[in-house]
Amino acid sequence: MSRLPVLLVTRELPSLAQKRLQGLTNVQVRQHNSIDVIGRQQLLEEVKGADGIICLLSDKIDTEFLQAAGSSLKVVSTVSVGYDHVDTKALKQHGGVKLGYTPNVLTDATADTTVLLALMASRRAKEALDIVSSGNGGGFSLSRGLGTQFTGKTLGIVGFGRIGCATAERLVGFGFGSVLYSGSRPNEERAQPLGAEYVPFDRLLGESDLVCICCPLNDKTKGMFNKSAFEKMKRSAILVNTARGAIVNQDDLLEALNKKQIAHAALDVTVPEPLPADHPLVHHPHCTVLPHIGSATEETRNAMGNLAIDNALAGIFGEPLKAEVRL
Ligand code: NAP
Ligand code: GLV
Repeated sequence: MSRLPVLLVTRELPSLAQKRLQGLTNVQVRQHNSIDVIGRQQLLEEVKGADGIICLLSDKIDTEFLQAAGSSLKVVSTVSVGYDHVDTKALKQHGGVKLGYTPNVLTDATADTTVLLALMASRRAKEALDIVSSGNGGGFSLSRGLGTQFTGKTLGIVGFGRIGCATAERLVGFGFGSVLYSGSRPNEERAQPLGAEYVPFDRLLGESDLVCICCPLNDKTKGMFNKSAFEKMKRSAILVNTARGAIVNQDDLLEALNKKQIAHAALDVTVPEPLPADHPLVHHPHCTVLPHIGSATEETRNAMGNLAIDNALAGIFGEPLKAEVRL
């Protein structure tokens, strides 16, 4: 009797997707059944002889991993839309292993989180919550903790893709007067309904009141928000990052906040994750940090889990993936 293909799953999946995974009869599921990250050595051990893997953005997929996997591996299915944790060149060289990912299903949830952070920053919610929890509150005040509002302001989106565009669609409802975006090329189809203007990065930095980072992490975007970028931004500007932590140079950000070169930074993503509790950005009154919850809704996480299962099964059985990264 021929053996069932092995599907390695590096984490417990969201409940509905997990249930589906447990019911699969056409593969042998080998799972790190935990909500915690799988250790590197365990990952390298358990991937041996696997036909497919469902992994997370915390699992580095590189040459070492592929060598450990061996020649049976046909598909890497990541439960994320970002794939900066995957060495795509190494994947291509390793006998054409396919890469599945989870675009679209998480766009709304992540755009919602971007708006959440933008509002928290503009209305100084972190300081307000600290006032309440410290018991030093007082009630209504005409002058304490005043924020700013978006009416008539300029929104800048760096990376006008699925999430960037969905974020802009939501935020125009808050009264922004104009929308700018930067990236590798203009996208008229997305921009036209919003009246968004494609501008060079430096112009976006100089004119935007709210800058949202929505681009992928790659060689070009790593550290693009550095000292020089912060110097170009308005002193009243708010920076929101729901993309990847390494797009922002955090030392330069801290300096910019301390020098009041920008007004507030709101980060869903950091380096490292989690950011240590004693990190100065965690305690900075003008920095709001969330623990990478961009797509964290029941609906979205189950949809991501299901799409990742679909991609893995398709890759294992030689069918077209529902969502495949073209390597
Ligand atoms: P997407 O549709 O591919 O959008 C990314 C956009 O960024 C594209 O329009 C791309 O343009 C643009 N871009 C590429 N290089 C750029 C550069 N140097 N400067 C400015 N823009 C650039 O991807 P998405 O679905 O919106 O996801 C975007 C990113 O969000 C993911 O890669 C992931 O890292 C992050 N994310 C985070 C969370 C979270 O939980 N916080 C959740 C989901 C996603 P071209 O197509 O022209 O290259
Ligand atoms: C989350 O960060 C993702 O890339 O899906």
